[in-house]
Amino acid sequence: DGRRFFVGGNWKCNLNKSAIADLVAAFNEAPPLDRDGVDVVVAPPSIYVDSTRQILRNDFAVSAQNSWISKGGAFTGELDATMIKDVGAEWVILGHSERRHIPQLKETDETVAKKAKYALENADLSVIFCIGELLEEREAGQTIAVCERQLNALKQAISDWTRVVIAYEPVWAIGTGKVATPEQAEDVHRSLRLWLKQNVSESVSDQTRILYGGSVSPANCVELAKQDNIDGFLVGGASMKPTFMEIVDSYK
Ligand code: G3H
Repeated sequence: DGRRFFVGGNWKCNLNKSAIADLVAAFNEAPPLDRDGVDVVVAPPSIYVDSTRQILRNDFAVSAQNSWISKGGAFTGELDATMIKDVGAEWVILGHSERRHIPQLKETDETVAKKAKYALENADLSVIFCIGELLEEREAGQTIAVCERQLNALKQAISDWTRVVIAYEPVWAIGTGKVATPEQAEDVHRSLRLWLKQNVSESVSDQTRILYGGSVSPANCVELAKQDNIDGFLVGGASMKPTFMEIVDSYK
């Protein structure tokens, strides 16, 4: 059914039980979603994934923010992707720039791709696969090369793209209030779609949703949503306010 608009809310390492209860209550009051028009997914910190799923309206899906590369076992602190599925979540965010770049985390392209493969093939989760360049990479003219390198690792690891959503998040735009212009974002999204066509297949290129992330807000979402190759958003800060619903509606 084409590329239905998709809005993800990534709460990162924020909120607590009572703040989540308040936020979910506000979301639950909003009118029903047009399920043919938009998918909405929120990603609480992992310890709250189960409880959020229990209190959240059923037309919103729930995501985790990370999962382990393989089956569980002696991996202290990690989550087997099947556990995420077990509590009723349907998605996992993988390769977020914070996990790729924070010095104590430093996940490689190969690690992220391995996680995606396991989540898709063994846990039946869908994956929000994040890519994007650092400011110095953009300034060096490497934006597309970096994104393609990150996507290529995924291509090496998986064959079925039907449950993958790509989130293009320029690192310089994340949490900075410095949003990419609609033209800057559209340029990259168009190149990524072409890469999918030339390196994966025409149908994957036509059907894979490419989200933009980085300082998306109610004020800038409508112009971004109008771009041909922007199929939705991955929202951080602005997803933790009731006005997130304005971003959800930006495709209308
Ligand atoms: O996953 C979400 C992105 O990192 C964007 O975060 O909307 O707070 O800039 P932000």
